[in-house]
Amino acid sequence: MSAPVCLITGTTSGIGRETAQALAADGYQLVMACRDEIRAGELRRALIEESGNEAIDVLRCDLSSLASVRRAVAEFRSRHDRLDLLINNAGTMTTRFQRSADGLELTLAANYLGPWLLTRLLLDPLLAAAPARIVTVASAVHLRGSIDPTTLRTEQGRGYSGLAAYARSKLGNVMATLSQAEKLEGTGITANCLHPGVVSTNITGDTNALLRLGMKLISPLILSEARGAATSLHLARDPSLSGTSGCYFDEHQAIAEPAETARDRGEREALWVWSSRFCDLPPAWPDTARRKNT
Ligand SMILES: NC(=O)c1ccc[n+]([C@@H]2O[C@H](COP(=O)([O-])OP(=O)(O)OC[C@H]3O[C@@H](n4cnc5c(N)ncnc54)[C@H](OP(=O)(O)O)[C@@H]3O)[C@@H](O)[C@H]2O)c1
Repeated sequence: MSAPVCLITGTTSGIGRETAQALAADGYQLVMACRDEIRAGELRRALIEESGNEAIDVLRCDLSSLASVRRAVAEFRSRHDRLDLLINNAGTMTTRFQRSADGLELTLAANYLGPWLLTRLLLDPLLAAAPARIVTVASAVHLRGSIDPTTLRTEQGRGYSGLAAYARSKLGNVMATLSQAEKLEGTGITANCLHPGVVSTNITGDTNALLRLGMKLISPLILSEARGAATSLHLARDPSLSGTSGCYFDEHQAIAEPAETARDRGEREALWVWSSRFCDLPPAWPDTARRKNT
């Protein structure tokens, strides 16, 4: 039997890099979806040398662009017909309002909508591998987020806060996870998300001085990148979680309560429908015909 296939996003630094390193050592066929092919290629060579695992590949994917996500999925599917583990790890935070190629606020596009579309389009290979797992790196900051799908297309960035945009995108991750779990019930695919802890990575690189100072002040509480990867790895490979789906885990690998908005089925469905429309897809997922056969 060939080794299980894992696709992980954002491995060029931080938590993703550590997670990829552990999964390469485990012997996964590892596909690293990154926007910077050169740095991802360097990492690929280092991981092959270190682990002796030759089945490590790079897939170019800028999650802030729907076209790039679609191209990456087509490329993945031309190389693999199964996907045992999908880790939505990549994330970004910015200081000023920027628009994505599709006209959305950039953090929302890269952290929420890109991974949402990626997951949605990878359903067939996930089903082919089932039991399969979807793991999404969210954040405890999602508890402070709010999201109103009716305003997302038209917002102009007045009073923009990078932290609020980040919190909103992470709330989107948690809502997507709970929706995926609900919609995939009975398919053998589980979906869970997590807060990795406060981890010393590049994520605050482009943020304001106040946030960086805040991080310095709490530095004794800041986890290493390896500790930051522990919860992703737990959700990815712990046999005791084979039947667990629709949960949000904290950095101690314990199930925690997600935000009220995420627990609200109506709010989740509104975001799902909006996301489907924005991506020109029908809201039903898996489609009705497929569900009857599963
Ligand atoms: N660090 C923390 O304290 C903390 C806390 C809670 C949650 N998280 C979450 O943990 C995850 C990993 O972040 P990290 O802390 O390890 O940060 P990081 O070191 O900045 O790594 C982020 C990764 O995401 C990639 N990325 C960013 N934008 C992308 C895009 N548009 N398309 C594709 N890849 C993109 C980056 O690629 P480049 O190298 O090309 O920029 C990098 O590989 C994120 O989802 C983050 O929100 C982190």
